Amino acid sequence: MCLATLDWKDSSLHGRYSLGVSISFRLPYQNEYGFALTLKASRRLMAASPADTSSNSRTPTGIPGLDKLLTGGLPKNRTILLSGGPGTGKTIMSSQYLINGILDYEEPGVYVSLDENKEHVFEEMLDFGWDFNELESNKKLVFLEASPIRYLPAEIKVGNLTVGRKEFSMATLIEMIKTSVKEIGAKRIVVDPVTTLVFQYDGVVAQRNALVELMEALAETGATCLITTELRRPGFERNIDYEEYLAHGVILLQQLQVGKSLLRVIQIEKMRKTPVDNQPRPYRITDTGIEVFPRESVL
Ligand SMILES: Nc1ncnc2c1ncn2[C@@H]1O[C@H](COP(=O)(O)OP(=O)(O)OP(=O)(O)O)[C@@H](O)[C@H]1O
Ligand SMILES: [Mg+2]
Repeated sequence: MCLATLDWKDSSLHGRYSLGVSISFRLPYQNEYGFALTLKASRRLMAASPADTSSNSRTPTGIPGLDKLLTGGLPKNRTILLSGGPGTGKTIMSSQYLINGILDYEEPGVYVSLDENKEHVFEEMLDFGWDFNELESNKKLVFLEASPIRYLPAEIKVGNLTVGRKEFSMATLIEMIKTSVKEIGAKRIVVDPVTTLVFQYDGVVAQRNALVELMEALAETGATCLITTELRRPGFERNIDYEEYLAHGVILLQQLQVGKSLLRVIQIEKMRKTPVDNQPRPYRITDTGIEVFPRESVL
């Protein structure tokens, strides 16, 4: 194994990177509080293996038109990033993915909401005929309202220990997700949006590591996961954000000026193990949810 290490110290962070097949990162407080945050860019996240498009390797989204772009659905047990600007339909699409899983594929789901409170999401989704309340009562769905994480004090007492808000919120969130997955046997997870969680960390390195930690935990559940992020620089010629490199697949939702009109456009930017249609395609939001038009061109 090839291994290179780098030690550094600055005002905000000090620690040790190991670069090679495994990458680890430790924060300084681990010795003081025994609160180790070790991040591994594991083979599971990075693995490159041949395409497998058999139906038992796919998790159909059930969203009209979308599975056609994905050769049958999302790759099973992987984490896919759904990235889009404000109002592009990230919450609707994520909810539709969970609802279809429950109603059409007998796959219970966990929804982690980091921005909107439960009441609002339930109310908005009822407009599409999706009764989250009923599904939750029937133990087909767990809705984790994680938005209060934002209002935690900077330091939190856990027994005799004091840990920072960021570390506490990530550890707590991962524990809550794992417990909920076990409780209902969830096969699908949505985290909407991860941006809120990740932006608690200062600097790209810390944000990237937080995201890797979350994605590692999601991979361990065995569920097929959709995590949403806010697209920071939209357009056809935009910069690629680091989270897009980490995810197994990336779906972009954008509202673009095409000719004289504004058009909703979906694009499968990448999907490991999947031959995809990566052309931008139009989609629309209606009273029944999102519909993708896989044969229509936008250019
Ligand atoms: N019944 C409907 N018919 C058509 N469009 C709708 C309908 N209901 C909601 N929308 C559109 O859906 C969009 C909001 O969807 P959603 O909340 O999923 O977006 P989002 O990407 O999650 O936004 P945010 O970044 O604010 O979280 C709005 O642009 C709204 O116009
Ligand atoms: Mg949303």
